Amino acid sequence: MIGMSLGAFTIGSRMQSCKKISPAPAAPVVDFTLNLADPAYAALGHNGGYLYNNGVIVARTNTGTYIAVSEFCTHKGSPVIYEAAGNDFFCNSHGASYSSIGAVTGGPAPSALKQYTTTLTGTSLRVNG
Ligand code: FES
Repeated sequence: MIGMSLGAFTIGSRMQSCKKISPAPAAPVVDFTLNLADPAYAALGHNGGYLYNNGVIVARTNTGTYIAVSEFCTHKGSPVIYEAAGNDFFCNSHGASYSSIGAVTGGPAPSALKQYTTTLTGTSLRVNG
């Protein structure tokens, strides 16, 4: 009787572990606008800067254009970073790399990052997709 209880506990623990290593969360559907005059978004005020908002990483390239892809690495869901020198995205967890449009360029990522549309009007940057 005691053995059965321990077995049930062990199975329950493994099921919990499986949830923790599930694939990355789905890329969100978003439509938001950042006021670039707001100090909260100062990271986008210079080339090479980037920030996270609503599950999206928004970056300003070295040529001054804005790009945006899903924040979550498609391997295990860690946040990716923007690397201005190569104009690409990288995941520090296991080394996945992505192009500026989110295409996989290396590492264990099974699929691309979702790309979002960016539209700059004055100091308002709309990100949607
Ligand atoms: S979570 Fe990004 S490479 Fe594994």
